[in-house]
Amino acid sequence: MKTTAIPVASVDVSGKEEAYAVEAIRSSWISSVGPFLDRFEQEFAELCGTKYALACSNGTTALHLSLLGLGLRPGDEVIVPSMTYIATANAVRYCGAEPVFVDIDPETWCISPEAIERAITPRTRGIIGVHLMGHPADMDAINEVAAINGLWVVEDAAEAHFAQYKGRPVGGLSTVATFSFFGNKIITCGEGGAVTLNDRQLYVRLKMLRGQGMDPRRRYYFPITGYNFRLTNVACGILCGQLERREEIFEKRRALFDYYTSSLKGVSGVDFQPVASWARTAPWMYSVTIDPQQFGTTRDELMDALKAEGIDSRPFFYPLHTLPPFLEAAARQRHSLAHSDHLSANGLMLPTYNHLTTTDMDRIVKVIRRSAVSQMGVRRAA
Ligand SMILES: Cc1ncc(COP(=O)(O)O)c(C=O)c1O
Repeated sequence: MKTTAIPVASVDVSGKEEAYAVEAIRSSWISSVGPFLDRFEQEFAELCGTKYALACSNGTTALHLSLLGLGLRPGDEVIVPSMTYIATANAVRYCGAEPVFVDIDPETWCISPEAIERAITPRTRGIIGVHLMGHPADMDAINEVAAINGLWVVEDAAEAHFAQYKGRPVGGLSTVATFSFFGNKIITCGEGGAVTLNDRQLYVRLKMLRGQGMDPRRRYYFPITGYNFRLTNVACGILCGQLERREEIFEKRRALFDYYTSSLKGVSGVDFQPVASWARTAPWMYSVTIDPQQFGTTRDELMDALKAEGIDSRPFFYPLHTLPPFLEAAARQRHSLAHSDHLSANGLMLPTYNHLTTTDMDRIVKVIRRSAVSQMGVRRAA
């Protein structure tokens, strides 16, 4: 029997998303002004517990915009985790500044506050705490180090929509936060992003920078050099449709997470994402780590076995200190990054999307169990 392919991610825009996008098009408000934009920014800010939200063209421009607004300049340093998506460090480079790579805490997979402390120099201006794989970073500890050293903090919440830290949603836990609404994210509009914050002065500056630097009171007068980082009213229509369904989306994804976890329990060498007692994670991509000694085969060999059965999966990101644009900087910085290396080598993202069925997951789990079992057979025979 021919089986269908299982992708690693897929979108679910089955509510009013399409109707709202069509409404935006028919209203002729298809650019970066319109009622869906206003509605999205207001609703998203409320959900993040912040005074303001600014929709941006993607999560990378949201980061870049935040760093520009915070006044990051050439020669400055920003502390970032090595274990993150490249956009986190690229945004620092776009400002001419240097990302300083530090390790993660293996108990959260997020930036280690102790490692941050060790990496501060007179050139350090701020910290980007990435909420990796839906798990919030330890923001109280990060904010404390920042306050002592006079630094700002950006939360990169691209992968962690509505995750909670000690009962509070991410997005309003530090100076400013950024989000991505790329197609594989929990809430999506294809390409999109947002910045959330409470500081009015910074909000006004970010809004101006987002819109080419134009003075809000004088059309075509540009007191500063700005950017076009705006998002369209059409995309915001899709986002408004997604926000209406957020509870349904979260429930579906949490059910997938629970099913995977109960099905994979007891498979030797498959370890689950750690969750800190104070964290409520966002169900982004279901992730495990493979211990090659226990499991009997490597993460990459398991990915090949899944691929052979038409099942797509993803390895974790390469740690940024091992990528060509950052090799030189990381060699100079010489921080210990062993946990990032380990997680990168062994982390695996399994298919996660709203219409993934239990039959699909049974198929995926069967391949994982079979890979482990066949290796056990090999070990016994040896
Ligand atoms: C941690 C992190 N930061 C930033 C981004 C960048 O977002 P975007 O792809 O929307 O530019 C991503 C992306 O997917 C991400 O995972």
